Amino acid sequence: MKVITYGTFDLFHIGHLRLLQRLSEMGELTVAVSTDEFNAGKGKKTIIPFEHRIEIVRSIRYVHRAIPEESWEQKIDDVKKYGIDRFVIGEDWAGKFDFLKPYCEVVYLPRTEGISTTELKRSLGVFGSIDKAEVVKALEVLEALKNSLK
Ligand code: CTP
Repeated sequence: MKVITYGTFDLFHIGHLRLLQRLSEMGELTVAVSTDEFNAGKGKKTIIPFEHRIEIVRSIRYVHRAIPEESWEQKIDDVKKYGIDRFVIGEDWAGKFDFLKPYCEVVYLPRTEGISTTELKRSLGVFGSIDKAEVVKALEVLEALKNSLK
């Protein structure tokens, strides 16, 4: 059984790892990692550059092969080129890739709950603003101390 999946895999997290693990249990796994240019075309900006994201994915022991995802249209060609039996992706994409059904099986899997790159990016933003707020607070304390010493 040959399996393929597509994704960005920015800020690689446990949800990504569990997906790749489940897919590798089905068979030989090919992962297509979206390039920065492809993401830019979708208005999506990543924190980790493509070369790093694909290197991380390629190094995971569940992954047989990692290839770039450069366009929406490449999927049918990839399925033929790598002799793919099953296309699998998270259920956030349910129904979106049914056009591949004449070429291979299409499966949508439940996501790991409670984690996503979007959430991680949001937390990073929160940490950034907490730091700033703490600096402002510290300056106010210093100002008050200065005034009390006058
Ligand atoms: N995925 C998953 N469980 C999660 C997060 C992602 O199974 N908790 C799966 C997605 O369904 C997809 C693959 O991992 O098949 C790659 O997802 P990607 O979009 O790169 O990661 P997300 O964390 O979903 O990123 P974002 O929040 O930007 O959508």
